[in-house]
Amino acid sequence: MPDRARYYITSPIYYVNDAPHIGHAYTTLACDVLARFMRLDGREVRFLTGTDEHGQKVEKAAALAGMAPKDFTDKVSQNFRDLATAMNFSHDDFIRTTEERHIRACQGIWQAIAANKTPKGNANIYLGQYDGWYAVRDEAFYDEKELTTGPDGKKRAPSGAEVEWVVEPSYFFRLSDWQEWLLEYYERGNPDFIGPTTRRNEVLSFVRGGLTDLSISRTSFKWGVPVPDAPGHVMYVWLDALTNYATALGYPDPNAALFRRFWPADLHVVGKDIVRFHTVYWPAFLAAAGAEPPRRVFAHGWWTNEGQKISKSLGNVIEPHALIARYGLDPVRYFLLREVPFGQDGDFSHRAMVGRLNSDLANDLGNLAQRVLGFIAKNAGAEVPQPGAFAAVDEEILAEARGLCGRVRALLAGAPNAPEFHRALEAVWALVTKANFFVDKQAPWTLRKTDAARMSTVLYVLVEVLRHVALVLQPFMPDSMAKLLDQLAVPAAARDFASLERRLVAGTALPAPSGIFPRFLDDADR
Ligand code: MSP
Repeated sequence: MPDRARYYITSPIYYVNDAPHIGHAYTTLACDVLARFMRLDGREVRFLTGTDEHGQKVEKAAALAGMAPKDFTDKVSQNFRDLATAMNFSHDDFIRTTEERHIRACQGIWQAIAANKTPKGNANIYLGQYDGWYAVRDEAFYDEKELTTGPDGKKRAPSGAEVEWVVEPSYFFRLSDWQEWLLEYYERGNPDFIGPTTRRNEVLSFVRGGLTDLSISRTSFKWGVPVPDAPGHVMYVWLDALTNYATALGYPDPNAALFRRFWPADLHVVGKDIVRFHTVYWPAFLAAAGAEPPRRVFAHGWWTNEGQKISKSLGNVIEPHALIARYGLDPVRYFLLREVPFGQDGDFSHRAMVGRLNSDLANDLGNLAQRVLGFIAKNAGAEVPQPGAFAAVDEEILAEARGLCGRVRALLAGAPNAPEFHRALEAVWALVTKANFFVDKQAPWTLRKTDAARMSTVLYVLVEVLRHVALVLQPFMPDSMAKLLDQLAVPAAARDFASLERRLVAGTALPAPSGIFPRFLDDADR
């Protein structure tokens, strides 16, 4: 059973310097599946996504496009909304960091941090001067020891981003005073805070290595949230960006209903490149502001395209709209979460995509549905068959179907490795495979001539198994599973997970079946 009635999940907010690509779709897709799963599981869900619109990187991109930053961000932010629609995301809110509510929240968190003391009794924020390296691409400060020098003589961050030397007056957050507090939080306060374990270990060793104070304001450009009572200073874009998770619930208003209901976040899903911001800076900022840190941050890996790093300069960006047009939305959603263990890097290839589509979707699941429903339409009166007494083999597969949702829940929400989307889908396919064997073994086409009552029982077992599969797969492939549930005549009000307990009613008329997943034919196969 869920440990809480409410569930707050967030995607990162996306920089609007760029057009959305498959990496962006992937992060939010993972959130969408969890949000849908939790809703069907009876939890009250808040799912947030949005765009990150301040900072030097966006200011530069606007200048390059010859536009004022606000006009530029209005335009590009819309591309991310369009992506969310195209991907069928079910977010409850879409935040933009240029909104008034967010400016208020950022200034509120700043003031709260400034008003409190560190665990060592010092001021959390002090004025100083930043002399050091900065990578605009990552919007991150780096220590000299983290950098490498390339053959071109340029210094680079571990991400490959070029760094520049910055000297400017800046406010600092006394992160160094939070080191022990953070270690205590990771080790004892909330051991499930960071997933997967590899990332947790990296963060632990980074923090054990010692933390330096963090520059949290900039004075050399203007595109940001003004620091309260500090003319010329705008907030460091990561303090601004991270605060979005609180803004969307009405922070800093102490009476905000959403904040009281949903804070702290159950899960921030992020890419592996932004772990440090979410697991070191963010809990420290929150604790300093007197707010509770999130329950969990999970970092997924990166996609490459046919073995190559995805980048604009290589011209190999995978454009989600093109993918959807080519393979269909639900196959794309399925592929992204099935192909690669969540947390690891993965490669997108046309071959792998078509393999999954034709084998898992068209062959295994599509064919199971088609052969069972097609057979019933033709030979069993086009209605839910009347079962007789169940044989042991029937009970066995029915029990497996009834346990499916619980197995999937454990893989999606049970620490320490959750969410494990690929294993959840494997668990569903183990049942699909079993059901296909069951059809072969029970051979309803033979029973039709020899034992019509047994045929009816066998078909009933199969539609019940299909119902469980379709219900549990809804979060992954909402449109296709709605279609399958329509074909099983499952009413809209009986599609939540509590309805798994019900059964199909014999004699209910079934509509004419049609294929859910057409096979993908390459030009060469046509
Ligand atoms: N704006 C920050 C996040 C602020 S959250 C408070 C940011 N934006 S981003 O647009 O650059 O990246 C957003 C997410 O997309 C990151 O989680 C990143 O890991 C993910 N991806 C970008 N390219 C990716 C791949 N090639 N593969 C998988 N995900 C990748 O960072």
